[in-house]
Amino acid sequence: MAEIRIENLRKQFGSFAAVEDSSFTVHDGEFLALLGPSGCGKTTTLRMIAGLELPTSGKIYLDGEDVTFNRASARDIAFVFQLFALYPHMNVRRNIGFPLLSQGVPKAETRARVEETARLLQISHILDRSVSGLAGGDRQRVALGRAIVRRPKCFLMDEPLGTLDAEFREVMVHELRELHNRIHATTVYVTHDQHEAMAMADKIAVMNHGVIEQYGTPQEIYSRPASMYVADFIGSPPMNFLRFTSGLKNGATAVRVGEAEIVVPEVRADKQEGEVALGVRPEHIRFNDASRLRGAIYGSEYLGTNQIVSVETMQGMVKARVSSDQTFRIGETVGLDLASEKLALFDCVSGKAIPSSLYQEARHG
Ligand SMILES: Nc1ncnc2c1ncn2[C@@H]1O[C@H](COP(=O)(O)OP(=O)(O)OP(=O)(O)O)[C@@H](O)[C@H]1O
Ligand SMILES: [Mg+2]
Repeated sequence: MAEIRIENLRKQFGSFAAVEDSSFTVHDGEFLALLGPSGCGKTTTLRMIAGLELPTSGKIYLDGEDVTFNRASARDIAFVFQLFALYPHMNVRRNIGFPLLSQGVPKAETRARVEETARLLQISHILDRSVSGLAGGDRQRVALGRAIVRRPKCFLMDEPLGTLDAEFREVMVHELRELHNRIHATTVYVTHDQHEAMAMADKIAVMNHGVIEQYGTPQEIYSRPASMYVADFIGSPPMNFLRFTSGLKNGATAVRVGEAEIVVPEVRADKQEGEVALGVRPEHIRFNDASRLRGAIYGSEYLGTNQIVSVETMQGMVKARVSSDQTFRIGETVGLDLASEKLALFDCVSGKAIPSSLYQEARHG
């Protein structure tokens, strides 16, 4: 087991910076998800930790030891790829045991460790089957087995569920988290899928163009996004933004959006000029005829347990998640109530969250 720490890690390909000034610590036994859209530098970060790519600058520590210039094979890290190649001419048992064979581990020990790994992954019953006939989920379990059997200090996984169909993915998300609860191996898991990250990770690093925009627990990232980018990337539908112009002052506890005065968590910014956005999650909006924040029903999407209702306001389209037994007419005018203690404020120029009592708590909590 091990702690991974990266400090000011940077990777440049020619003049293009794929990863910029990344710093974070994955504590012993923790599961970190590196989350972001295609091309944001997730794989590059992982490859540097694995030792498959040399950083342009910055440091990588494994259990406090500087491994920045150590070869991959000297790092005791297991890397699970999206398209993990199994040896088609070997059965499951030999595929899982292969890394031990190449390390010269005695046969009896190899056998015991392969069987223990298979039990962990609940694939004992297929140990003597050929891998060529296996379904996607089982192939991925075998691939994981090959990583686990080595008992590495930590696991790096690059979209390991990317090729599975939706049903298998859901099963594997659950299984991977269960497995992590059992073996507590320090893990860095790369994904572009917010649901995977939220469901599995202890901590999430949200990446954007090579930069880590926010690092925190899934709860922190969801409820106190550090930027409009994070607020928009996380949540489905994402956070709504109601833009308005105000000279927002320190101590403000209400803002004027169109005709409505909206109570917000106390603002801790000295002064804010220019365009500001009020951020509200769909589940923090209620319909209330008395509200002066008004809009016209644009449409609704029925989801069974609830529905997503789109409302066109003067500040743009707003999506509300409300109970599915409410009915609306398209074009009908409604009033919107926003849950004041949950609202975030953002500077539209920098895109950063404006400090407020909501965010103050986060730092101390
Ligand atoms: N060897 C390389 N040479 C030049 N550019 C590279 C190289 N490897 C990666 N890049 C570029 O660096 C950026 C980050 O790539 P990376 O593979 O880390 O992204 P990613 O977040 O893993 O994306 P995806 O979700 O598509 O896998 C991309 O713009 C990519 O084109
Ligand atoms: Mg990638």
